[in-house]
Amino acid sequence: MTSSQITITQPDDWHLHLRDGDALNSVALFTARQFARAIIMPNLNPPVTTVVQAVEYLDQILAAVDGTDFEPLMTLYLTDNTSPDEIIAARKSCFIKALKLYPAGATTNSDAGVTDIRLCDDALEEMQKAGLPLLIHGEVTDPLVDIFDREKVFIETTLQPLMHRFPELKIVFEHITTKEAADFVLQSGDHIAATITPHHLLFNRNAMFQGGLQPHNYCLPVLKRDSHQQALLEIIRSGSNKFFLGTDSAPHAKTKKESACGCAGIFSAHAAIEIYTSIFDQQNALDKLESFASFNGPDFYGLPRNNKTITLIKEDWQIPEEYSLGTETLVPFLAGQTLNWKLAGNSH
Ligand code: NCD
Ligand code: ZN
Repeated sequence: MTSSQITITQPDDWHLHLRDGDALNSVALFTARQFARAIIMPNLNPPVTTVVQAVEYLDQILAAVDGTDFEPLMTLYLTDNTSPDEIIAARKSCFIKALKLYPAGATTNSDAGVTDIRLCDDALEEMQKAGLPLLIHGEVTDPLVDIFDREKVFIETTLQPLMHRFPELKIVFEHITTKEAADFVLQSGDHIAATITPHHLLFNRNAMFQGGLQPHNYCLPVLKRDSHQQALLEIIRSGSNKFFLGTDSAPHAKTKKESACGCAGIFSAHAAIEIYTSIFDQQNALDKLESFASFNGPDFYGLPRNNKTITLIKEDWQIPEEYSLGTETLVPFLAGQTLNWKLAGNSH
């Protein structure tokens, strides 16, 4: 299928880091100009662990996107001590849509994460009852497990036992990176879904070492080998409704990325829907874009699909080398490169 223009129902981003303070004010509008809603990650410092904190964070985000219709879908950060009462309060709040599981130490700001998922059983029981999804950063943290195997091992050691204990708990396996994760989700029931990032579709681990160390292609879970990238591309070509858009856009200052100990995280909110569209086009799967970007997510969460549409035009434009991030700068995903799809009515 070749086309020079495509109109789809407005998409949502089901996994987004907006940060807070100046950084939030620098990045929020990139998301609001293309997506109607986004699931907001709670890994601030300190993390968003209570409904009260989530309200405060929601207010900050709404101030940053003032003048738009963007709707932040808030999450709470699950800890060893999250009480069933907090889950009940979250359900009653209506604006909290999920809880996020970071295994302690797995990624950026995950120190307060869960040390042993069984400590959360009372909270998980309440989530299962309330129909509140658990969003999982699915990697084990055992330093003895090779970093490229951490997702695969997580499925065996943590995810499967968890699903046995809570057979009706809704789970989103976030930012999947491996064939094992894709197969696992495909074989599971309708209450298990997954998000896929643009970077894990576009790149494999070679991109971290192309011509030298490439810190802006470093994220967690880390990029995997080509066969895994191909498995993810096969998923999007298949049009399975168990997979949906989640950018994992995670801004870090350039100085924190280009450092002796560089932070994990790729910022893609500046061009997310355009990058996904290019990928689907390359895969001859433009007819599958709308369900991935705009239908499968709300259907899984039990939320209405968006009413508005967006139009993308096949037109070359160049991604800037940098954007500002508060008083610092930010190097976006695919900095300086030419993209061949552009959101209509948007001046980059
Ligand atoms: C995220 C961040 O920077 O907050 N980093 C990343 O590499 N994806 C955290 C996360 O989602 O793992
Ligand atoms: Zn993330």
